[in-house]
Amino acid sequence: MNKLAQRVKDIEPSSTLAITARAKKMRQEGLDVISFAAGEPDFDTPQYIKDAAIKALAEGFTKYTPSSGIPELKKAIQKKFKLDNSLDYEPEQIIVSCGAKHSLFNIIQVLVDKNAEVLIPSPYWVSYLEMVKFAQGKAVILKTDSRNSFKLNAEILSKNITKKTKLLILNSPSNPAGCVYKREELDDIAQICVKNKLWVLSDEIYEKLIYENNKHISIATLNNDIYKLTFVVNGVSKAYSMTGWRIGYLAGDKEAVEATARLQDHSTSNPCSISQKAALAALSSDNGFIDKMRLEFEERRNLMLSELDKIGLDYIKPEGAFYVFLDISKAKIGSWEFCDKFLAEKYVAVIPGAAFGNDNYVRFSFAASMPEIKKGLERLREFISSPR
Ligand SMILES: Cc1ncc(COP(=O)(O)O)c(C=O)c1O
Repeated sequence: MNKLAQRVKDIEPSSTLAITARAKKMRQEGLDVISFAAGEPDFDTPQYIKDAAIKALAEGFTKYTPSSGIPELKKAIQKKFKLDNSLDYEPEQIIVSCGAKHSLFNIIQVLVDKNAEVLIPSPYWVSYLEMVKFAQGKAVILKTDSRNSFKLNAEILSKNITKKTKLLILNSPSNPAGCVYKREELDDIAQICVKNKLWVLSDEIYEKLIYENNKHISIATLNNDIYKLTFVVNGVSKAYSMTGWRIGYLAGDKEAVEATARLQDHSTSNPCSISQKAALAALSSDNGFIDKMRLEFEERRNLMLSELDKIGLDYIKPEGAFYVFLDISKAKIGSWEFCDKFLAEKYVAVIPGAAFGNDNYVRFSFAASMPEIKKGLERLREFISSPR
């Protein structure tokens, strides 16, 4: 008999975590490593959020909570949806989980039956594919065009719908391409989803990190039909630099959210009680911290782009999130080899595009300081110009 269950054997290790670990080890060995691999803001969690957690701890808020989240946090999430997105949800339509990743995992397990088809535009965030595999669904990768910032369009979507298609995963602002969907683009996609009664999973975790005049629009806001078909996932990880606290949330169809709650009841139970209080403080605050962080990221983005322009490399201009998806096709090597060599020769860690479904690109995170960006891009210039 097999030692490991087949559905677990098929799960790939996370390349993002593997490269980050290698870079960390090299740093411990005393090497001057620059990491553009990070998938998290490099800001400290704001003090008022930490204080709320300290208070919760001091007051003994350390026991089980309702497994789908404390009522006051659900209320704050309800208010956030109303104020930020003009979306109305009842508390029963909302569930708090251990990070947006957990919300995504849960709802995929709830919706996707064996062999059901899930549409995933490429390049995609690494975990979607593995989550669908775990549900024994069939991930259908939708190839998109770099000339359209790798955004899905109606034509590509329509062509890939079959009788087995159950769900479309959308991610705006996106990781790794940093694209932000416009209203008209979402309208086209929504029309097709409504016509074909497709569920939509809208991952909006980078909602607050948007640059220049771009605007975040949730597909769920477009009309009542698409609202009913959409599950919105969001969380506090990226917006409040709270990646370690593990609080994310999901809102949508009541019956499916209740099923998610049952799954959560029998797996993780409630997300950490203290983190829930911290998330409540985050969502109840003004946008001061977010605005500051967003502006800083915009400056770093601009610096990274201007350095890349000087080197003469092509990239997808990020409208949101904190990544630059860099075209390495001129280097004539695959993205894994590029990343291996760049780290080994120049001590710079970046993530291969192959992990996101595109071997002609690598992902640079600008969640790094301005001097690091300057230094790292100087090393990129040397790396690119050295003969291979
Ligand atoms: C697109 C995307 N969705 C979801 C997540 C997970 O967020 P969380 O830390 O809240 O689980 C990430 C984290 O990197 C992400 O990039």
